[in-house]
Amino acid sequence: MIIALNNKCNFTKDEFLTYQDNLKKIKTFNELILFPSYTYLSLFSLSNIVLGSQNSSAYESGAHTGEISSSQLKSFNVKYSIVGHSERRQEQFETSAIVNTKIKLLLKESITPIMCIGETKEEYNLSKTKEVLKKEIEEGLKDITDADKDKIIIAYEPIWAIGTGLVPTNEEIFQMIDYIKEILPNNKVLYGGSANEKNIDSLKQISNIDGYLLGGISLKTPNLELFLQKLEN
Ligand code: PGA
Repeated sequence: MIIALNNKCNFTKDEFLTYQDNLKKIKTFNELILFPSYTYLSLFSLSNIVLGSQNSSAYESGAHTGEISSSQLKSFNVKYSIVGHSERRQEQFETSAIVNTKIKLLLKESITPIMCIGETKEEYNLSKTKEVLKKEIEEGLKDITDADKDKIIIAYEPIWAIGTGLVPTNEEIFQMIDYIKEILPNNKVLYGGSANEKNIDSLKQISNIDGYLLGGISLKTPNLELFLQKLEN
């Protein structure tokens, strides 16, 4: 399974270095990917974990102050990049068209995009989840060849589950991942949203999950170790 560790906007430099030391000790059969803040990409020194970026630029290069391009990420050995996380869609007004552009640039550099999709609580209450997922997939993957499409990982993250401690039922998660796989039969699909060491015993019963995108728990290595232990037993 793929276990993606999304650190978001956390850790000062020293905190990151201590955290990285703790991650060094983790032993797992799963593929761990670390998504640190951009500033720590150059400090990454782990051999048991693969490097990812939390974001990438929609510009290829040039006069775009503050942007970091896919080719720059590639030069730091970044193998995966999160695209269209709901926090960026909401806080940075990242549209599906921007997500689409970023995905194309990442693929050009052979960086695997992890495209996040998911519904708000309101959309969930109105039973619009499938509609939202379909639209985000269609727009995010527009004009991408089938061969390239297959390389993309999808992260299903109900927005109302992120950082809230709320999680859909196993049946609901199964149904939505099943729906995503109906549209994209060859793609891996991760679940994200308040997954932790307490609910992994239950979540791991869901048969079609290919991995997890972890936010809060990614910051606490003892909890993360427990999560991995439970997942593997
Ligand atoms: P969470 O975040 O695990 O803290 O809910 C997940 C995510 O935003 O990727």
